[in-house]
Amino acid sequence: MTKSQETTYDLVVFGATSFVGQILSRYLLDSYGTGQSVKWAIAGRSESKLNTLKGELGEKAKDLPVILADASDAAALNAMCEQTRVIISTVGPYALYGEPLVQACVRNGTDYCDLTGEVQWIRKMVERYEEEAKSSGARIVHCCGFDSIPSDMGVWFLQNEAEATFGKPCQDVRMRVKVAKGEFSGGTVASMMNIAKEAAADPKLRKELANPFSICPPDHRSQTRQPNLKGAEFDKTFNAWLAPFVMGAINTRVVHRSNAMQNARYGKEFTYDEAMMTGRGTKGRLAAYAITGGLAAFFTASAIKPTRWLVGKFVPQPGEGPSPEAQKAGFYDLRFVGRTEDGKTIITKVTGDQDPGYGSTGKMLGEAGMCLAFDIPAGQPGGFWTPSSLLDGKLMERLTSKAGLTFEVLETR
Ligand SMILES: NC(=O)c1ccc[n+]([C@@H]2O[C@H](COP(=O)([O-])OP(=O)(O)OC[C@H]3O[C@@H](n4cnc5c(N)ncnc54)[C@H](OP(=O)(O)O)[C@@H]3O)[C@@H](O)[C@H]2O)c1
Repeated sequence: MTKSQETTYDLVVFGATSFVGQILSRYLLDSYGTGQSVKWAIAGRSESKLNTLKGELGEKAKDLPVILADASDAAALNAMCEQTRVIISTVGPYALYGEPLVQACVRNGTDYCDLTGEVQWIRKMVERYEEEAKSSGARIVHCCGFDSIPSDMGVWFLQNEAEATFGKPCQDVRMRVKVAKGEFSGGTVASMMNIAKEAAADPKLRKELANPFSICPPDHRSQTRQPNLKGAEFDKTFNAWLAPFVMGAINTRVVHRSNAMQNARYGKEFTYDEAMMTGRGTKGRLAAYAITGGLAAFFTASAIKPTRWLVGKFVPQPGEGPSPEAQKAGFYDLRFVGRTEDGKTIITKVTGDQDPGYGSTGKMLGEAGMCLAFDIPAGQPGGFWTPSSLLDGKLMERLTSKAGLTFEVLETR
């Protein structure tokens, strides 16, 4: 059972003042207005910052309600959840600030979605709150931004097409980032540095982060070895050099959880990995080695105290991110290759307009929240879902008609 439509708010954006929260708030305002068909509010810890944001959003936002709540104030979070059907949170790093809100949503049967890519935190939330979410009816959907909607919905789309064309799903799927034009924000860098720091201090956590099934239910831990690109490699399918893709560490986990949540629809032996294409020839090879080295240097330097402060000096600070022009100029193009166990092949493509991490992420997160609020029947049980396993074709329709994404089959053979 979920909350009735009589609740004061359909949606609340918690962390509306964050870099991505501001983009999201503007998107919701431009797309859905305020106080009309969608009753929504902005929320956060600072009244003055929220009012400044309202001013920046302009005349259209004059009636937009403001809710004050600190991420550590259980009573304020509870009061916010009581009057809301869906909370969208952009307050991160989630491993530092996120748990009290998840707890409040679960207790109140309030649906929730966010932008976390922190596997260790998701696992902790599932372990602590899944049973309670099932009984309260709260549907919790993490990872509703560039990580991991294009990957998760991309695999879901490919498998639908494979089933329609070959009569069976693909046992092996590879995602290759052909283009991703965009920048990181301070909040994302802070989350990545926090993971590196926590992992350096905790061997058990390092093991957990290396486990492709770490956020799957215990009965869905396949023995099948998962591909895991750790260095530069040449890919014959696309005739291009590959480098590790930093978001693969979360996207692959979400895709495996989606498989589990759909009763192993992609198969018990399903394998999945992600990598970045860096081009052909010497230039492509050098770029693949440079990215591999750069990632290793970033995570090593972020893990230890003497160099962590140095990294902090050269990366965007919380609240900073790409300019509106850079967001508009950004885009991404992802390719998926699926193979069935008997060798049939399908190649698909997913694209997004605007930069992946902010312009596009703001729209995807907004539509995930809207989908939860308006498209998912109350009978759909509570618990910790993934975007594709709960929001499926309803989200696909919103992504393609409103959020600038495309999903397309390029080839089957
Ligand atoms: N999945 C994806 O594709 C994706 C893409 C982009 C970002 N992200 C993630 O989204 C999160 C936000 O990123 P960002 O760059 O937009 O972050 P940001 O600009 O640094 O903003 C952080 C937000 O958290 C709020 N906050 C911090 N402590 C709080 C507290 N105690 N109580 C209430 N609010 C508090 C801040 O409020 P004040 O404004 O009052 O300081 C601010 O609104 C990060 O975790 C990032 O990793 C994910």
